[in-house]
Amino acid sequence: MEQKRKGIIIAIDGPAGAGKSSVASEVAQKLGYSHLDTGSMYRGATYFLIKRNIPMEKENENQVLDELKKMKIDMIDNRILINEEDTTPFIRTKEVEKFVSWVSSLPGVRKILVQKQREIAREGGFVLDGRDIGTQVCPDAELKIFLSASPEIRVKRRYLQLKGKAELDFIRKDLKRRDEYDKNRKAGPLQPAEDAIFLDSSHLTRKQVVEKIVRWAQEVIEN
Ligand code: DC
Repeated sequence: MEQKRKGIIIAIDGPAGAGKSSVASEVAQKLGYSHLDTGSMYRGATYFLIKRNIPMEKENENQVLDELKKMKIDMIDNRILINEEDTTPFIRTKEVEKFVSWVSSLPGVRKILVQKQREIAREGGFVLDGRDIGTQVCPDAELKIFLSASPEIRVKRRYLQLKGKAELDFIRKDLKRRDEYDKNRKAGPLQPAEDAIFLDSSHLTRKQVVEKIVRWAQEVIEN
């Protein structure tokens, strides 16, 4: 017998620094749903490879994939456990950020993590944020949002988020590099799903963005 689903699936995709994770977390809270930050899974996998001193370069793709077979990844309330170790405090470093675009561009890596993300969200009642949720992970999501903001606003938000741990210029270059990588990779590129609603958050507060998405979600839930 098919299990009753706990609610709808809401997919929030968009570029780095658009505010997806904090918005997704608040939307989930307001609806009594769970939130899955899929970016932290790619970050966790990258941290795992760095810790094992695996060279992250094209010629080494097979070794990277072999190593990742030894990785057990679990998400508990958006804390990322790798082989039972809580790696959450270590995934937002410059070093992880340097390699995560490359790691997340490998089709073999995406296959492992997309499968895990689908398993986690299977029961419904989830808000997932990432780059390919509406197109690859949950193409049947009942509500899809493509959340963006102007490049300069994204740079400023990221700067504030890092509390001065990185220079504006470094962040600007890094976001540009990651945007290019995410958009142009062959596997699961950053692109809006055909049925996604575009939401430009450049001139909206987080509260306004959250309110809009919650309202759209309630309309979908009630119909
Ligand atoms: O959202 P974030 O900055 O934490 O994501 C980290 C990296 O992971 C980013 O460079 C793109 C990648 N990513 C991805 O390829 N697919 C996702 N669903 C989520 C993140």
